[in-house]
Formats: sequence, structure tokens, C-alpha cells
Amino acid sequence: MICLGIEGTAHSIGVGLIKDVNKTCRVLINLIKTYKPEKGGIHPREAANHHAAYIADLIRDSIQKAKVDFNDIDLIAFSQGPGLGPCLRTAATAARALSLTLEKPLIGVNHCVAHLEIGRGTVKGCLDPVLLYVSGANTQVIAFAEGKYRVFGETLDVGIGNCLDKFGRAVGLEFPCGPKIEELAKNSTHYLSLPYSIKGMDIAFSGLLTAAENYAQKGKRLEDICYSMQETTFAMLTEVTERAMAHTEKQEVLLGGGVASNKRLQKMVQIMATDRGAKFFVPSRDLCVDNGAMIAWLGFLTYQSGQRMSIDESIINQRFRTDMMEVHWRG
Ligand code: ATP
Ligand code: FE2
Repeated sequence: MICLGIEGTAHSIGVGLIKDVNKTCRVLINLIKTYKPEKGGIHPREAANHHAAYIADLIRDSIQKAKVDFNDIDLIAFSQGPGLGPCLRTAATAARALSLTLEKPLIGVNHCVAHLEIGRGTVKGCLDPVLLYVSGANTQVIAFAEGKYRVFGETLDVGIGNCLDKFGRAVGLEFPCGPKIEELAKNSTHYLSLPYSIKGMDIAFSGLLTAAENYAQKGKRLEDICYSMQETTFAMLTEVTERAMAHTEKQEVLLGGGVASNKRLQKMVQIMATDRGAKFFVPSRDLCVDNGAMIAWLGFLTYQSGQRMSIDESIINQRFRTDMMEVHWRG
């Protein structure tokens, strides 16, 4: 079966084509276009206009580059939520139009669950992980338990990527700021004290963000602040992930989301996993960030497990929680 997936929850619009081969996911093509605001944060409607401008070309390009025909597509999947309303609507509209034109079934999926399933589908040995999903808007620790994907811990305010981007913007770094902060942090080992904020299994970043901005205003070395932000936030994320692993008794940890490319975060989580005798996985960068292939793969799993969706049911859901998705493809 070949499935085309459209991702459009936030600032990226992606189209991916996947084929299932012996229950694993073969990615035929995975194209992404990212909206970059000239200044400031993402404006949802401007991001949606960007997606509307590129989606048709992305679909055409993906078909051509994957060397398949429109008739070869068996299923159309799209990101139904969570995300920004105008962006979700643009992706969903394109998916509906394609489904009706090609007369192929349509299926909407949960974006966060897709980040986990693409790991299981493409990374060898990754069978039942705890996912540390760290992106711009999202920060969640997710695992499969009692028939559903459940959130074991999450941010109470901003996502880790947004926290890094907000700090970066305040000190004049170019967006996206995460990679620049990673580079700057490499030039320091001088730790400045920052709030370490874990509440139960949840995390808060806003106090730390304010404290980091205060250090910058007081003229502390930028490298030292970046280093301290990484050490503190990543330790918080690693702690919550480890506790979720202990609670669920899972022996695998998977990273997902744009921040998963950060080498220091990878190292910290890997050390924790090794100490527990657990396995550590991180998919390639193009499968970690928001992408159409992960939507296509989850669409395939959902459809193959017997679920169907009418056009009427394909309405987007900005607050589509991870545990709202029916999971019939896992035992
Ligand atoms: P979502 O809609 O799932 O929240 P997103 O649209 O914010 O995702 P992603 O592409 O998953 O997008 O992640 C982007 C974020 O990742 C940005 O906040 C960026 O600063 C951060 N990021 C990217 N590379 C790194 C890195 N090496 N270190 C830290 N942060 C990074
Ligand atoms: Fe994402």
C-alpha cells in the first residue's frame, strides 16, 4: 500500500509518500517547506497562506520525485491536530480535495502519535519506546499503556523549542535559535544557576526563560547562559523521561521533534538509557521534524487496522490530545 501524507500543524508544510514493506515503513519521498517569519513569532494566518501557496507544488513534486503515478496512491492521510487552526485547515482542505479527486480514502491522524510511530516504523529495534517529543510548540513524554498512547509528562507553559527561540530572539539570534544556542553552548562549561522546575511529572520553562533573559541584560557571557539553559532544561527533560520509563517498565527511549537533533540532549538521554540498561533511538533529522512521511505512516497503520473516516468526520481539531486517538494497530 502507498500512502500520501500531508503535515501542516504549524510553520512547516510537508508531503510524504510511504510504502509498507513487511510491516516496516519505507519512505519514498519526504518534502518539507518551512515558513520563516521576517521578524517575531509565527503568525498562524501568514503560515497558512505560505502552506496554501506551496502545497500543490509539493504534492506534484513528491509524485514526480518518488517516480510514482497518482493512480498508485491508495490512501491520503493528513495531520488532523493538534496545531494552529488556519494551518491545519489548509492541510486538511488539500487532503480532502486530493481524496475526492483521486477517489481514494481519507484519514486524519494525531500529529504527536505520528512522531512516535515513525520511530517504530523506521528505526530497527525500536518496538515499544517511551518517546521524548521535543519541538517548538510541544514538549511531551509519551508511551503506549493500556490500549492508548498516553502523556506521562509535559510542559505546563511553552515548548522547549519555543523557550530556546524566545531567549534567542531576546538576545538577537536568528530564528530558529535552538541550533545557534547549541553552538554557543559548546564554548562554555561555566554553569549559571537557573530554576529547575519539575512539578509532579510536568515541566515549566517560563521562570527559567525569565532568569536567562535577566542574565543577558546584566551582561553575563552569552555562551555561559546558553550552556546553562541547555544543561538545566535537558536535565529536566531527561529526569521526567527516566521516571516515565521506570513507571511503565519500558526498555527503550526514542527522541522526536526538532530539538531532538541537539547533540547535548541526545548525549544526556543516552547516558540515562545506558545506566538503565535500556536502548536509545533517534531517527534521522528529516523524520524527527514535522514531516509528511510520519503522517502517511500513521495514516497507513490507522487505515490498515480497520478505521475509516468520512469527509464529515475529517474536521480538524486544534486540541487533539495524544490520548484521544483510537489505537487498534497495537496488540
Ligand atoms: P511542532 O509543531 O511539532 O511543535 P515545530 O513546528 O515547532 O513543531 P520542529 O521542526 O519539530 O517544529 O522543531 C523546531 C524547533 O526545534 C525550533 O524551536 C528550533 O529552535 C528547535 N531546534 C532545531 N534544531 C535544534 C538544535 N540543534 N538544538 C536545539 N533546538 C533545536
Ligand atoms: Fe511536531
